[in-house]
Amino acid sequence: MNTPILQATGLTRRFGGLTAVAGVDLSLGLHEIHAVIGTNGAGKSTLINMLSGELPPSEGHLHLQGRDVTGWSQPRLARHGIGRSYQRNNIFLPLTVRENCRLAAQSRAQRAWRLWEGARNCRMSGALADEAMERAGLAAHAGRLASELAHGQKRQLEVAMCLATQPVALLLDEPLAGMGAEESSRMLGLLRGLREGHAILLVEHDMDAVFSVADRITVMVNGAVIASGTPDEIRTNREVQLAYLGEAEDGGVPV
Ligand SMILES: Nc1ncnc2c1ncn2[C@@H]1O[C@H](COP(=O)(O)OP(=O)(O)O)[C@@H](O)[C@H]1O
Ligand SMILES: [Mg+2]
Repeated sequence: MNTPILQATGLTRRFGGLTAVAGVDLSLGLHEIHAVIGTNGAGKSTLINMLSGELPPSEGHLHLQGRDVTGWSQPRLARHGIGRSYQRNNIFLPLTVRENCRLAAQSRAQRAWRLWEGARNCRMSGALADEAMERAGLAAHAGRLASELAHGQKRQLEVAMCLATQPVALLLDEPLAGMGAEESSRMLGLLRGLREGHAILLVEHDMDAVFSVADRITVMVNGAVIASGTPDEIRTNREVQLAYLGEAEDGGVPV
């Protein structure tokens, strides 16, 4: 098997007496959409925060393409290919779509002390912004203010901003939150298209979406992983049915 892009081993995070994430093993491969599901408070966002470097783990290890990156900061991991979006919007509303994407691109290329690189960086971040908007389906909205975008387009912009940092892994926390059916299906199409060339970790509540788009699903309960497998394996997993998804009359998962 190829080396995973991201590999978490025994990843644990405690907040005082509360263990939000408890010894999670998780592997994220290239060309894969790996969904993490679980009820509110299961530890999904905390897990993403550790994978992106926003929170240091209390215990455990994180490897990026085989290299031990445990304890690396979020900016350092971002420079090495880990992009993320947030559960809350993280965009600059008074700026245009393109300006938001350019800032995201620059945040990765940032080497402010090398001033003579300024013009080149500027061209490069413009090109990266254009490509990211194209891939995220926002090219036609490049000049619009972010504040004028519909909710679904704002989430697309978040993905575009993430793409502008040229990530190899995309960590997406509830990208479908608050979306209507049409916006959701547009976003799912976008994610399917990004699978090629990226490793995608998706935290999502919408079970229909998860089961339709994911190659692999990991189920968390109280900070721990209770099952990980293909959508079919998860659908028919007894422990998952009992703990999380609820039992359907025919014994299958109602998705
Ligand atoms: N910064 C924090 N400080 C204290 N407790 C936290 C913090 N972040 C999350 N928690 C707690 O950790 C648990 C897991 O939260 P979270 O990772 O946000 O779950 P999920 O994203 O699955 O809903 C919850 O009980 C939450 O209250
Ligand atoms: Mg969350």
